[in-house]
Amino acid sequence: MTGKFKGKHFLTCDNWTKEELDIVFDTAFDLKDKFKKEEPTRYLRDKTLFMIFFEQSTRTRNSMEAGMTQLGGHAHDLTSDKMQLSHGESAKDTAIILSRMGHGIASRNCFYGIGYKYLSEMAAHSTKPVMSLQDDIYHPFQGLADLMTIFEYFGKDTKGLKVTVSWAYADTHSKPLSVPQTQALLFPRYGIDLTIANPKEFPLSQDILDRAEKNAKTGGGSVKIVNDMDEAFEGAQIIIPKNWGGFGAYSVEDYLNNEDQCKKEMKVNLEKYKNWICDDKRIRLADKKVKLMHALPADRGHEVTDEIIDNPDISIVYDEAENRLHTAKSIMSLTM
Ligand code: CP
Repeated sequence: MTGKFKGKHFLTCDNWTKEELDIVFDTAFDLKDKFKKEEPTRYLRDKTLFMIFFEQSTRTRNSMEAGMTQLGGHAHDLTSDKMQLSHGESAKDTAIILSRMGHGIASRNCFYGIGYKYLSEMAAHSTKPVMSLQDDIYHPFQGLADLMTIFEYFGKDTKGLKVTVSWAYADTHSKPLSVPQTQALLFPRYGIDLTIANPKEFPLSQDILDRAEKNAKTGGGSVKIVNDMDEAFEGAQIIIPKNWGGFGAYSVEDYLNNEDQCKKEMKVNLEKYKNWICDDKRIRLADKKVKLMHALPADRGHEVTDEIIDNPDISIVYDEAENRLHTAKSIMSLTM
């Protein structure tokens, strides 16, 4: 492994240049190839990663833990209730101490207005790389796996590829903005023509949209925002239907000062858009060879019908989920 990235934090793909990300992808493809051939890749022998989860996870937790094992190291699977941070220990003290005991820190903290700040505070004080396992703004590992999957199906020259990221109805919980925001920032850097569709009450953060426009200018892609799901599906080569909460409609300050009221408003607004689903009728508006992607877990029957997500000619969600492993191993092996 190259030592070039040793110690580099991974809080957002935006802090990695395209040239650096290209090395990350090359490494992920190599690790995937070796995984399939059952060749050992013990690049992190005897190294320790501390993972702190404030929320549930299936793909992220297991891609990191399995990844560390396969790289020859070990991951501690920690939750906030197991640690003194539940009694108020600071991000600074937690980071300093864990970075003295191991070789990397990773955390998921999706609380709106809190998560990214928490991770940044750890990164400021850790002497070892800090990795985001998803926060309120970004989900960088998901972005890497998404793009790796796109490369596998459409090739590495993604200039002009039409990708639609659409809000969709879900009734499980208020999902963070971080997956669509990461895609909005990352995809246009690779020349992708991105359409983002959402009801007006469920925007992405304006700051992210402004930065996505800038990324599109330098990357040769484009970003279009529409408020109509049908319009967003027309001609799309990739459809990503995914719920996100209405956090983007509020400033962090307003949200944190009026959290109960904001949550009530989001719930009322949500119920207006039950027809925002990826179904057979809508998918027919897309390109004939359209592929469905989703970070998972999917709200089947709400975000997308079983008929579409289980259609092997359309759905590539399991490849996308598997690529969480290879991209996680790439970042860990390069930075730790
Ligand atoms: N896509 C994703 O992050 O899945 P988990 O929440 O299961 O980790």
